Amino acid sequence: MWPYPRILAHRGGGTLAPENTLAGFRCGLEHGYHAAEFDVMLTRDEVPILMHDPQRGRTLPGTGKIAETDWAGLRELEAGAWLDARFAGERLCTLEQGLDFCLAEGIWMNVEIKPAAAEFARRTGELTAQAVARRFTGKSGAVLPVLSSFSYEALLAAKDAAPALPRGYLVDVIPEDWQARLEQLQAVALHTNHKHLTPALAAAVKGAGYGLFCYTVNDMARAEEIRQWGVDAFCTDRIDLIAADAW
Ligand code: G3P
Ligand code: MG
Repeated sequence: MWPYPRILAHRGGGTLAPENTLAGFRCGLEHGYHAAEFDVMLTRDEVPILMHDPQRGRTLPGTGKIAETDWAGLRELEAGAWLDARFAGERLCTLEQGLDFCLAEGIWMNVEIKPAAAEFARRTGELTAQAVARRFTGKSGAVLPVLSSFSYEALLAAKDAAPALPRGYLVDVIPEDWQARLEQLQAVALHTNHKHLTPALAAAVKGAGYGLFCYTVNDMARAEEIRQWGVDAFCTDRIDLIAADAW
């Protein structure tokens, strides 16, 4: 039900390195993590890049929406200094660069499709899935990533574009129709916020035969609790506190 690593670094390297950058993956590796979750968004010219926020301001200097800016206008921006001066000079990376890095370093991936707005959902799902499928073509030894998204539309588009890629339906609060949604998506797992999970819901998801993944768990006591509930895997911001092989 979960033939994947059980503890993942959230956004590449958790909060120890700039999120969604190669520096994040490197930081994860330094902490023994060979599994990471990261976010994928489209630029205006439809380049899939690793990015969480739909606008500049927090992790990138300046203002402006990602969906209204071409890759050429983003690729030289400072993407590391916001966290710490020692990361100054880090840049954004494209999905292709991220996939290449992770494949080369043996990092298993949970690729979160993150449409900048609802109107971009289908296209973001489609292009992300196509890029991942292309990169894994002919790589028989590599374990396929799981594609996840809060956007049901994006995941449907991913299914249409690359049906063989496993999908996880990502929700904050588990909706009443979760099982129908998973069936329609032909998903392998439900990804959910551990804060709203209950033992009964966890048992129901597991009882229905699905993988169960939680975000974002930052202490071992909580990790142990949800493991008892049957949770298969989680991502964490605190790769310094939680050992990659703790489960
Ligand atoms: O995929 C789990 C988690 O990353 C979802 O929340 O906002 O950190 O992308 P967010
Ligand atoms: Mg994410």
